[in-house]
Amino acid sequence: MVVANWKMNNSPEQSRQLCSSILSKMSATDKEVILAPSHLCLSTVVESTGDSIIKVAAQNCHQELSGAFTGEVSASMLADLGLDYVILGHSERRLYNAEDNDLLAKKVISVLSQGLKVIYCCGETLEQRSSGAHLTRITKQLTEGLFHLPVKDLKNIVIGYEPIWAVGTGVTATSIQAQEMHAHIRSVVSNKYGDVIANQISILYGGSCTPSNAKELFVQKDVDGGLIGGASLNADDFIAIINA
Ligand code: PGA
Repeated sequence: MVVANWKMNNSPEQSRQLCSSILSKMSATDKEVILAPSHLCLSTVVESTGDSIIKVAAQNCHQELSGAFTGEVSASMLADLGLDYVILGHSERRLYNAEDNDLLAKKVISVLSQGLKVIYCCGETLEQRSSGAHLTRITKQLTEGLFHLPVKDLKNIVIGYEPIWAVGTGVTATSIQAQEMHAHIRSVVSNKYGDVIANQISILYGGSCTPSNAKELFVQKDVDGGLIGGASLNADDFIAIINA
């Protein structure tokens, strides 16, 4: 699975062009390819991807389904547009919008209630990694944000591991660091939900993933794909990452 997180980039017209460029360069693939444009460009991307194999994700939504929340967008609105996924808990939302695990736990419920799937992000700071607190930090994010779910909901969850120190910095986790954390995440999921669920869940790596480092990351046993920011804004780079 490869997810393009366009963040706050691309106008509707630029989104349309990038979609058609990606579609024209994409060869048959058995990978799940997902584009996550800004809210404003979601309907353009849904329309442009049509009935191709590309799926569409939102980058966030509110925890309530409707009401007096000026400037917000709900999961029911996103479901109505025909999306498949919502990304929740990206480190930029945790940092700039003060989203914590308790709030994310509510958003997860809201998204699933509308028949959408969740890409739940977790990640540690450089300080937490340097002090050896990275594994417990991720366990806490998973436990508080996801583990209130009944087992039946886990089939609709994808986990994105994005070390904060690697997001948008040009510094990528080594394949050893990525594999260690992904194996940790799988074991934490297994402890809570059992081996079958843990082996089925997709765990994506994100953080300065590029055409030149993607393959080495993706061949790791517990890395099931990537969450791609900067490199997904260029069709050739994104295609090269899908092919990796
Ligand atoms: P990046 O972003 O690839 O630009 O580091 C990844 C992400 O934030 O999903």
